[in-house]
Amino acid sequence: MSVIPVITLDGPGGAGKGTVSRAIAAHLGWHYLDSGAIYRALAIAVEDAGLDEQDTDAISVLAQHLDLDFALEGDHPVILLSGRDVSGRIGVEQTGNQASRLAALPAIRRALLERQKAFRRAPGLVADGRDMGTVVFPDAGCKIFLTASAEVRGERRYKQLKAKGLDVNLADLTMEIEARDARDRNRAEAPLKPADDAVLLDSSWLSIEDVIQQVLSLARDRLLLS
Ligand code: DC
Repeated sequence: MSVIPVITLDGPGGAGKGTVSRAIAAHLGWHYLDSGAIYRALAIAVEDAGLDEQDTDAISVLAQHLDLDFALEGDHPVILLSGRDVSGRIGVEQTGNQASRLAALPAIRRALLERQKAFRRAPGLVADGRDMGTVVFPDAGCKIFLTASAEVRGERRYKQLKAKGLDVNLADLTMEIEARDARDRNRAEAPLKPADDAVLLDSSWLSIEDVIQQVLSLARDRLLLS
């Protein structure tokens, strides 16, 4: 078993996992895995290839050969799919919903598993997703399940998308987020759920800074970090 430490942050969309995970990884000088971005990039690749979402065999092959790169332009993270910058398309709700539908298919999850495990590199990894603590890194020393009420998550996502200049409606967004969570929670393979040894944290009424401090303090305790 690898001794490279891992902190997993799982939970539904809009709970603040991305912001918190990035901040923790930057603070510790560790690697960061945005597993949702991998499923989202696959959704874009499927759309661009004109594949039918039901064509699991072709999509699994595409998933295995996905040419995906996470890079930085200055401080700004960019996602390159076959060398093309798809960062703008990654964040939109439609891509998230397509990703959630593809993510329910066991063959596709299997095709993406090793790619996610390969992010575990020294000195450590902060992994953000739905099944990081249950399936991808079951031996992680520090597992967090971050939640927030659907209303709060809807509002956060609304502000994020508005800030990007996208035209969104709060009520529609909250409904879409709930529908996506229901799909992610109820699928048979690697459903969204806390690992048995995860710590549950509700971020509804906490500032992002408070969540970061609580996660860091848990990580220090569990992983014996200085
Ligand atoms: O975290 P996100 O919103 O970028 O994820 C998009 C979708 O991808 C999510 O609704 C379900 C799927 N996903 C998954 O099934 N497993 C993960 N570890 C990460 C994301």
